[in-house]
Amino acid sequence: MKEIKSFYVYTYGCQMNELDSAVMIGQLMKRGLVMVDNENLADLLIFNTCSVRDLAERKVMGKIGQLGRKTKRKQIIGVTGCMAMSKKETLFSKLPNISFVLGTNNINDLNAVLDDVLNEGGHVIHTDKDFGEDIDFLSAQREDKIKAYVSIIRGCDKRCTYCIVPYTRGKEVSRPPQDILDEVEYLVRCGYKEITLLGQNVNSYGKDRPEWNCLFHDLLYRLDKTGVKRIRFLTSHPVDIKIELIEAIRDLPSVCKFVHFPMQGGSDRILRKMHRIYTKEEYQEKVALLREIIPNVALGTDIIVGFPTETDEEFQETYDIFKKNDYSIAFIYTYSARKGTPAYRWEDDVPEQIKEVRLQKLLQLHNDQCIERHKKMLGETTKVLIERRNKNNFLKGRNDKWDKVVINGSDSLIGTIQDVKIHTFNHQTLIGSLI
Ligand code: SAH
Ligand code: SF4
Ligand code: F3S
Repeated sequence: MKEIKSFYVYTYGCQMNELDSAVMIGQLMKRGLVMVDNENLADLLIFNTCSVRDLAERKVMGKIGQLGRKTKRKQIIGVTGCMAMSKKETLFSKLPNISFVLGTNNINDLNAVLDDVLNEGGHVIHTDKDFGEDIDFLSAQREDKIKAYVSIIRGCDKRCTYCIVPYTRGKEVSRPPQDILDEVEYLVRCGYKEITLLGQNVNSYGKDRPEWNCLFHDLLYRLDKTGVKRIRFLTSHPVDIKIELIEAIRDLPSVCKFVHFPMQGGSDRILRKMHRIYTKEEYQEKVALLREIIPNVALGTDIIVGFPTETDEEFQETYDIFKKNDYSIAFIYTYSARKGTPAYRWEDDVPEQIKEVRLQKLLQLHNDQCIERHKKMLGETTKVLIERRNKNNFLKGRNDKWDKVVINGSDSLIGTIQDVKIHTFNHQTLIGSLI
């Protein structure tokens, strides 16, 4: 058996991958390996990958391919995450320098797979469609000591036609409420101040297990009692935002008044083609309800521009609703055709330059709207959880609406929630001082 002592993990993609990386790091540390911050010094390299857009995949393929040519000594390389699920064993032929492929449902097998690689060599692959035992979240080694991601539901049953996630993460499986409560209580004892509940669609929580009698809003009520200072959650499917949830957000002091619920598109024809299962009007009804019930709620969205057959007029509809909704946070993407998804069979017919123009128009609008929103905040006081010192030696944190705020102050403020008066702003960052 070869000996390995050190490892390095590259994490791509979304918050679920960040959490999965933390779990894998915990498992490798349990094994006695040391995490190093220089990839060249590591005996083991793990690429925890994302498949959501073509660019995400190309970046990883390029990086691993490059390593194959560069490395002088033999490093063990493994691919985990969504690309492990979307490409499976084909990865071995595309990237001959990798030793193992570990799927999103097999994280618990990491050490066993490593043993196989070390003892027998060759290529080892574990990519189960469903996961058997739950992931060992308590062993997660998180870098951040103030904020933590907590998984509450894995997978997605929605099947939007453009999206690879249901194929890389499988069907929805909720995590038992007691396990979530135990983990959050543990994190509170460790000094964590903020948790972000993770799921592709957190609002589906508990629907697969009616016997638990614990839907997403019920879970929020229970978690509010753990003493955690702030609770966030990602992501909400618009269809599943119900009045009980909106009231829970309004009523629970720990729950941040921010809802990220992607619109994706603003025209009914495109929404239908995307299989988002709501109309523009139904989406707008949710926006109105959220704004009516939760005073000063901040809203977030994801948008895809250039979906197959999207016309200029249809893009304009997206632009108009986007403008009306005045989102605090927006992630805007150009459509990327994913093999294996239903939309892949439609011609990717919107030229890349047009996609880019539409993207830039929305980014500009979002930027302008952020400036207007930030102007209105000048002189206001906002509650900020101070997270860390940034590279310019300011203390950096966020308010509950997810606005980034920096102040001057001492390290003893890190991990506390402070009232901050906003004096000015710089691009996306608000600049203030303690009051
Ligand atoms: N479960 C979340 C998002 C998961 S993926 C939700 O439904 O809200 C994150 C975002 O990537 C999506 O919201 C979507 O805007 C974008 N995305 C997904 N597939 C894409 C594709 N094929 N091309 C471009 N963007 C895509
Ligand atoms: Fe993808 Fe749609 Fe599921 Fe989100 S809800 S993960 S966009 S299929
Ligand atoms: Fe990417 Fe997988 Fe997340 S495809 S966005 S890492 S669920």
